[in-house]
Amino acid sequence: MSKTISGFSKLTKEEKIDWLAKSYFNNQPEITQTIKQYWNVDEKLQQLHDDFIENTISNFYMPYGVAPNFVINGRSYVIPMVVEESSVVAAASKVAKYWSTKGGFKTEVISTTKIGQVHFMYAGDKKELETYFNQQKTELRAATAPITKNMEKRGGGILDIQLVDKTDKLANYYQLHVTFETKDSMGANFINSCLEAIAKAFRKDDIEIVMSILSNYVPECLVRAEVSCKVEELGGKNPEKFAQKFEQAVKIAEIEPYRAVTHNKGIMNGIDAVVLATGNDFRAIEAGAHAYASKDGQYKSLTHCEVKDGIFRFWIEIPLALGTVGGLTALHPMAKLSLDMMQKPSARTLMQIIAAAGLAQNFAALRALTTKGIQHGHMKMHLMNILNQHKATNEEKEAVVAYFDDRTASHSAVVEKLNELRKPKVQWVDFLNEEEVRSTLANLKTDAKPLFGKMNGQQMVEHVSAVTQIANGNWNVDIYVSDEKSARRKPFLNSDSELQIGFKAPFLSEDPTPLKFNSMEEAVDDLIEQVQYFETVFNENPNRKVVHPFFGELDYEYWKKFQVKHFTHHFKQFGLV
Ligand code: MEV
Repeated sequence: MSKTISGFSKLTKEEKIDWLAKSYFNNQPEITQTIKQYWNVDEKLQQLHDDFIENTISNFYMPYGVAPNFVINGRSYVIPMVVEESSVVAAASKVAKYWSTKGGFKTEVISTTKIGQVHFMYAGDKKELETYFNQQKTELRAATAPITKNMEKRGGGILDIQLVDKTDKLANYYQLHVTFETKDSMGANFINSCLEAIAKAFRKDDIEIVMSILSNYVPECLVRAEVSCKVEELGGKNPEKFAQKFEQAVKIAEIEPYRAVTHNKGIMNGIDAVVLATGNDFRAIEAGAHAYASKDGQYKSLTHCEVKDGIFRFWIEIPLALGTVGGLTALHPMAKLSLDMMQKPSARTLMQIIAAAGLAQNFAALRALTTKGIQHGHMKMHLMNILNQHKATNEEKEAVVAYFDDRTASHSAVVEKLNELRKPKVQWVDFLNEEEVRSTLANLKTDAKPLFGKMNGQQMVEHVSAVTQIANGNWNVDIYVSDEKSARRKPFLNSDSELQIGFKAPFLSEDPTPLKFNSMEEAVDDLIEQVQYFETVFNENPNRKVVHPFFGELDYEYWKKFQVKHFTHHFKQFGLV
């Protein structure tokens, strides 16, 4: 089947999925299933989402979280965040709470001017062009009147139109540089429509319009957010040291582009999440923010810090062209809910909330980086992803989360812990419990076949008794175990691991020893007797130590640990436990 197609957009959604499954997935039914699994059951709602873009075949979930306790200019907010990175919402919430008791975030909008440009080529006399522009200026504004009418009623519109000569950078290149106020709308459509109308009214034989488009670089649509407190109020063991290292971390991002990019990426973790949750254009915000970070000719940190006269101050200055009306903000029910959650902010207020979210995110990252390191908290949040990846049950999740409460969770450590939990639980034999031993062995026949090894049932019982007799001092196995080997081997007895199948102590012969007793009953009685004697000899002399032929010199406690493993190993050999 051909992997290219014409008229794809004309197909129905089902046909599109069909074609995709056949052409690129070998027609596996799971593919169609996965795609449809994410369809909304509410057909109308699904249709709404289908219509946002072309060729929609499904939806792609992103988590929608909320960060409470943001106090901004004295008002409390809960901030919605759409983000897939596990630590972002937790970090924002923590930092919001932290600053809520220290005066909260102080924010202000510095400016709200947006920009668009008509790019054109003109090879003629510059003076003539200037004259034409000045003559046309009123005409250019008039051409946009039908578009600007409503915006003007809301207090917005075109602020200014300027002719800019760019011929020193590119031959014949000029612009009409237009500034706008778009009030509560992001204004992309408004600006582009105005620009296209202006371009039309600016046509002339020797002017070649190249394009008309808004700019996402909006250095005059600027907001500032700040937190500050006395250094001693920062808390922790050594607030002075914390403030100093924090300031150094910011200064590094101010002069070192490699660091600045990651530093700003952390800021954007917070900013993009709210921009997405409110149905705003995160690509525009990203592009504008990074361009602003390079405004002085070198890419720099968007946040700044100062520790002076015992006061810690940390602030961000960032361009944010946002809307709270129109576009997706009005169409997407969750975007609308986000705005309602933040008490229906104006675009100016939203700029301030989002700047605070970015500042909070950066504070969280720098606090972690300059203290415990980022992996501690990061991996803790990542823990759930790893657990879900490995299909952990709720009980397993609870146990693993508790285990890593005071430990740094790496991917491999989490998987190891999970595997440990999943190991079948060993049913250890309480070899000192006569009743348990007798009842476990009650149905074992002399010639019972083992699941592994060569011994029969009675040989096994006699073997366990014989090894107990080493501890009792009745069987002197002349094997030397060096201190070094003993030190290496003994910790195994403290672990919850079992003796390995196939392990054979060097003092034992290849084949089982001939039977000592006439019946299984006698062999079991002997075993019980040896165990009782085991307790007696050690109780009579608690400091007694006896050499074990593999583990070396063991005291009572270690012998007991060995016996539990040894009994369990052999009882398992016959499927008794
Ligand atoms: C990770 O998404 C963001 C950080 O790398 C930001 C930073 O380094 O400042 C933690």
